[in-house]
Amino acid sequence: MKKTVEEHAARFSEKAAEYDDSKSDEYHACASLVVDYADPDSDDVVLDLGAGTGAIALALAPHAERVLARDISEGMMEEGRRKADERGLANVEFAYGEFREPEVDSDQPIDIVTSNFALHHLADDEKREAIREMAATGARRIVLGDVAFFEEPDPDAPFYGPEVDDPATVGTLVEAFTDEGFAVTAVERVHDQVAVIVAERLGDRGEDAERGTARSR
Ligand SMILES: C[S@@+](CC[C@H](N)C(=O)[O-])C[C@H]1O[C@@H](n2cnc3c(N)ncnc32)[C@H](O)[C@@H]1O
Repeated sequence: MKKTVEEHAARFSEKAAEYDDSKSDEYHACASLVVDYADPDSDDVVLDLGAGTGAIALALAPHAERVLARDISEGMMEEGRRKADERGLANVEFAYGEFREPEVDSDQPIDIVTSNFALHHLADDEKREAIREMAATGARRIVLGDVAFFEEPDPDAPFYGPEVDDPATVGTLVEAFTDEGFAVTAVERVHDQVAVIVAERLGDRGEDAERGTARSR
């Protein structure tokens, strides 16, 4: 990670009020694909990591039983809570949680994990830890939209700020999901540096989703 968790949190809290107005077409395309692929049933619980101001969490809430939105930036989550109130969405919970420690009760069933434009702040070994943690929730599906390289990194191109961002290659992310027992069922190339990866759990979910053992530390 090129900045500490605290530095990232402060950076995002500072720009939280303007965050929603500053997004690119590729960001919107990516977010829209994450929402479409997440496709929760009405009794599903969704965990959205790096939830920010709630782009994904608030879009999924009307279709899910509950959405747990986790982020490290109080300022970003304040915006998210405000928008949830405005829209009358009572089934979204914004609370502090870091990718590798999402602060979800070990007996809380999670059906789908989502994350959009956030995991690239972590170094590759930290991303692997985060993906291991996503898998340990027992979720049947993980949908990740993020800055990720299909080709050689180009620090001069958009989406990639070398001083704060640390994107992986798409191959590294796909491998991390398959290593955790997931099949990667879709990879969408939104841009040379923006990918949506859809991972579905292989085999019997019940075996891996021993909540207490998989996640309690
Ligand atoms: C570019 S914003 C994306 C927010 C939202 N997912 C969206 O699609 O608009 C990145 C978010 O990731 C959060 N973040 C950065 N590092 C994190 C970490 N280690 N754990 C959890 N969230 C993190 C930031 O606070 C910020 O809200």
